[in-house]
Amino acid sequence: MRALGPARVRGVYVDTGLMREGETEFVRATFDRLGAGMVQIDHAQDFFLAGLARVCDPERKRHIIGEEFLMVQERIIESRGLLDGHWMLGQGTIYPDTIESGGTAKAETIKTHHNRVAGVQRLLEAGRVVEPLSSFYKDEVREIGAELGLPHELLERHPFPGPGLAIRCLCADAEAAPVASPDGFLIPIRSVGVQGDCRSYAPVLAIEHSAPFSQLHDIATELTNRIAGINRVVSFVQGKAALEDLRIRPSSLDPERLALLRRADAIVRKLSGLSGFERKIWQFPVVLIPLGTDASPDSVVLRPVESVDGMTAQSAAMPDALLASIAAELLGESGICSVLYDLTHKPPGTIEWE
Ligand code: XMP
Repeated sequence: MRALGPARVRGVYVDTGLMREGETEFVRATFDRLGAGMVQIDHAQDFFLAGLARVCDPERKRHIIGEEFLMVQERIIESRGLLDGHWMLGQGTIYPDTIESGGTAKAETIKTHHNRVAGVQRLLEAGRVVEPLSSFYKDEVREIGAELGLPHELLERHPFPGPGLAIRCLCADAEAAPVASPDGFLIPIRSVGVQGDCRSYAPVLAIEHSAPFSQLHDIATELTNRIAGINRVVSFVQGKAALEDLRIRPSSLDPERLALLRRADAIVRKLSGLSGFERKIWQFPVVLIPLGTDASPDSVVLRPVESVDGMTAQSAAMPDALLASIAAELLGESGICSVLYDLTHKPPGTIEWE
């Protein structure tokens, strides 16, 4: 932008309806500071959400989003005359996008969709795609950005997955109850984990949040090693009802649940940002699961992780006071029944839940 000037740079931001609270405004304001009108917003929320209504299966969700993104990108490239020979396409592809990302073959497929759709392939063949960051890891990208004088709040943002909040909003086909076992309660919802090179979906084991984090993490590791058929352990931090009284409830990716997740995510970001915790960790997914009661049908899972490149990760310990304030504010939301904390390292759990 600095080198080419505003007339020769054109940005398009696709609002999929799966973004975090305030994201579109943030993008608009950030790029307006560089040159008014430089980024056009493509409002594709209805298109994305219509295709995802009532889809429960996580891998189908990912596939649909990949396909939809492909169609939107094609439409934009073709309808805006970007294939006419006068434009080059700039993509922010980074090194982990081009290699297997954390053993998640499916995630790689989706990233490949985003960056290698047919229109992009044609531009690539004509030598008209620039990907200046494609050989760098995220920490190196941040260093380059700092040298270029980019604002801190832009450089230090946590990674956010392409399929957005869709893979943090779990859905269920049928009602089911947690099953008591000597180790805790088995929650009959499928979350993804990684074993070798394969993604596998399995139920989640919930234990009491009744020990310091160092012990909880050791317990979680022992449980995932010992019990076949789980890849994740969460602790029950606080709830409006006891865990055994909660149910998995039939649910879909509807606008109301996405709005609730967006509010929960915004609460967590606000408090973890203010406390300085956000700066110490790699990423902090906030996940909505359909576990609750008639009055409050959903629960929130906190998933803060430490990592260097996202390929492996450690569940991060959080200061008790911060956890208490996050839980209290989340439970102030009428639809939220309980707050859980993901204690699983990667492997065997992945960072995201789907
Ligand atoms: P997992 O969940 O596989 O995530 O441990 C590793 C890192 O990749 C991000 N992620 C994605 N990023 N498209 C993306 O652009 C995807 O489909 C996708 N899936 C996971 C995740 O947020 C984490 O940083």
